[in-house]
Amino acid sequence: MKAVAVFPQSRELRVIDDHPEPKISAPTEVKLRMLEVGVCGTDKEICHFDYGTPPNGSDYLVLGHESLGEVVEIGPGVTSLKPGDLVVVMVRRPCEEPGCVACRAGRQDFCYTGKFKERGINQLHGFMAEFVVDDEKYMFRVPPELRGIGVLTEPLTIAEKALREVNNVQLRLPWACPVEPGKPREFCHNAVVLGAGPVGLLGAMALATSGFKTFVYSRDEKPNAGSDFVEKIGGTYISSSTHNIEQLAEEVGNIDLVYEATGASKFAFDTLRVLGTNGVYIFTGVPGRKGPIELDTDTIMRNLVLKNQVVFGSVNAGRDAYTGAIEDLAKFEQHWPGAAASLITGRYPITDASKLACQGVGGIKNVVAINQ
Ligand code: BGC
Ligand code: ZN
Repeated sequence: MKAVAVFPQSRELRVIDDHPEPKISAPTEVKLRMLEVGVCGTDKEICHFDYGTPPNGSDYLVLGHESLGEVVEIGPGVTSLKPGDLVVVMVRRPCEEPGCVACRAGRQDFCYTGKFKERGINQLHGFMAEFVVDDEKYMFRVPPELRGIGVLTEPLTIAEKALREVNNVQLRLPWACPVEPGKPREFCHNAVVLGAGPVGLLGAMALATSGFKTFVYSRDEKPNAGSDFVEKIGGTYISSSTHNIEQLAEEVGNIDLVYEATGASKFAFDTLRVLGTNGVYIFTGVPGRKGPIELDTDTIMRNLVLKNQVVFGSVNAGRDAYTGAIEDLAKFEQHWPGAAASLITGRYPITDASKLACQGVGGIKNVVAINQ
């Protein structure tokens, strides 16, 4: 069958026709016909051979980790899915170390050993193929009405996991917004998203949906596609070309949360300086290594202590984040019909996969449409 394969040895990325079609080989496995696979920055790094490892014994890695497929066949032990169901597949698989309490508990997103595998990224073939087989425990059913946006589930899980952690962290203090009987709920917390790419904009939707006054801080001056989108979902777009970090903080008021989705470390640490009282700062971007930069560590450290701040990083996502993401996509559709769909700015045939992953074609989120 057809698949998009990266050959790190010969430094090629191309469509192959002879990738073996996977077969169900255990009672709880499910076979999917892949519909759409999203392309992201990680794919770009894999295309530039900075990242990405083929499975043991294979000279190529099938690309793709942002999936949407349709069930075509189920093993005799499958209980949660039936043919015709739409499905998103989890990316990460547990390590095999008996002592890894995270993986043993099914939380491989917190794997201690680093020996986890990731489909389409690290030692397991990805989803840019005509068919995929996996265990039902790694699959999540997507309701048919989300057919057009289900492929956004995986990039949304990054924010879903982070927000679950924020809720846990903030249990340390009185945090719930006051409610006055008979009045609509007031939003009392301010969130700043750094970056207006797909992870940032999906994060902004998740933050707005969970009750934050949401600001997106990004480079481009408005109006632009990102700023239009932010305004559509009731947020405020602020450009770093018109507002420096101090001016940002002045506009926002107390910055209760920063959701960093740029991977630009200088920009990110500069913004840490204006995190508010009792604020939480979440890093999600993975920067390339570019050498040391100067940083106002006295201010940062003083603020961390004197303002009770928390800084954490978050990668990948667990089951609860996948189910949460699917529920949130449905909420997004209710709150802002068509908005999530507008993040998908292009659908391309499999033959364009290398152009999408390696050069990029502009727009927000581009997907490879593998089957109709
Ligand atoms: C994926 C994550 C993955 C990470 C690191 C991201 O693009 O969304 O699931 O854990 O890359 O490999
Ligand atoms: Zn990704």
